[in-house]
Amino acid sequence: IMAEEPVNVNEFKELARKALPKMYYDFYTGGAEDQYTLQNNEEAFRRITIRPRILRDVRSIDLSTTVLGYNISMPVLIAPTSMHKLANPEGEIATARAASACNTIMVLSTGSTCSLEEVASSCSAIRFFQLYVYKRRDISAKLVQKAESNGYKAIVLTVDCPRIGRREADVKNKLVVPPPKNLEGLLSTEFVSDGGSGLEALINGTLDPSFRWEDIAWLKSTTNLPILIKGVLTHEDAIKSLEVGVAGIIVSNHGGRQLDYSPATIDVLEEVVHAVGEKVPVFIDGGIRRGTDVFKAMALGARAVLVGRPVVFGLAAKGEYGVKRVLKMLKDELELAMALSGCSSTKEITRSHVRTEHEQRI
Ligand code: FNR
Repeated sequence: IMAEEPVNVNEFKELARKALPKMYYDFYTGGAEDQYTLQNNEEAFRRITIRPRILRDVRSIDLSTTVLGYNISMPVLIAPTSMHKLANPEGEIATARAASACNTIMVLSTGSTCSLEEVASSCSAIRFFQLYVYKRRDISAKLVQKAESNGYKAIVLTVDCPRIGRREADVKNKLVVPPPKNLEGLLSTEFVSDGGSGLEALINGTLDPSFRWEDIAWLKSTTNLPILIKGVLTHEDAIKSLEVGVAGIIVSNHGGRQLDYSPATIDVLEEVVHAVGEKVPVFIDGGIRRGTDVFKAMALGARAVLVGRPVVFGLAAKGEYGVKRVLKMLKDELELAMALSGCSSTKEITRSHVRTEHEQRI
């Protein structure tokens, strides 16, 4: 029915709530502890205003950009989120097909419910593979090899998860999750929870909390793929990332699901961008719900953004079509924001197009 057709990304959240069992809705939406970071990710965008420039020719707007040399239709990528089959029976395959249709990049989560091979063979999207490092290093190496031989173009190493953040809704709900498909036959995923979140038991039972900077050399030795590091929030770690030779940096706090009271990503983007200079591209995720949010991130130096929850909400509400709608909405909104700000291409979005809260007080 028409009344169900959302007009913005936020409206998909309500549709997802109606479509999903509470346990899964809570899993997708939730954050760690007080959920300060979860909320602040979105609120920090609200505190930034746009400085539009007028009377420019904006008849045609070029939204395309390149990421690691790949041309994509817009500076919006799909962030790695786990377990899409809990949202829709087609799972990550539907998400990947939507990415293909919108000509953008999907980052497949290690914790996907379709295998990386299945996703590779069912879509033409450019795909990156998100990696967690397991206590059994050989398993991570094996996953990287599989990703490489199945045409994934980069490894996205998530570094903010030596342990899982405490997501209290999942603890209360005694969240039950299916075993990650990519680990089938590689690792026993039968972890007995202590009566709380099943995901907590799985992650803390398998991931390697001793993984450190020095070990990135090992990861590099296992692959020819470029490595993006996901979870950088300080200039110190941006510099370290450059030292170990990453191909790009993703400013992320895991959507407020790991360390509560870590900063909103948009508030630290510029710190990271300044440290990195032009050496590698910087990306951001967390709280991006509007085309204007994408615009603000680009103005503060991001090459592109990634979106997590909105994609899952689109998937839960309307499957592949829903994901396409979410991506198209963000694209259309960004195009409009650019036109109204006098930018006819993504390259024309500059620092002077935004004013942060701090600048407003001066
Ligand atoms: C995530 N995220 C995540 N990150 C990652 O590196 N590996 C993963 O498996 C997952 N899984 C996952 C599941 C769910 C349900 C969510 C919501 C998030 C974090 C994700 O990549 C991204 O950092 C955030 O989702 C970005 O914030 P927004 O767009 O959701 O606000």
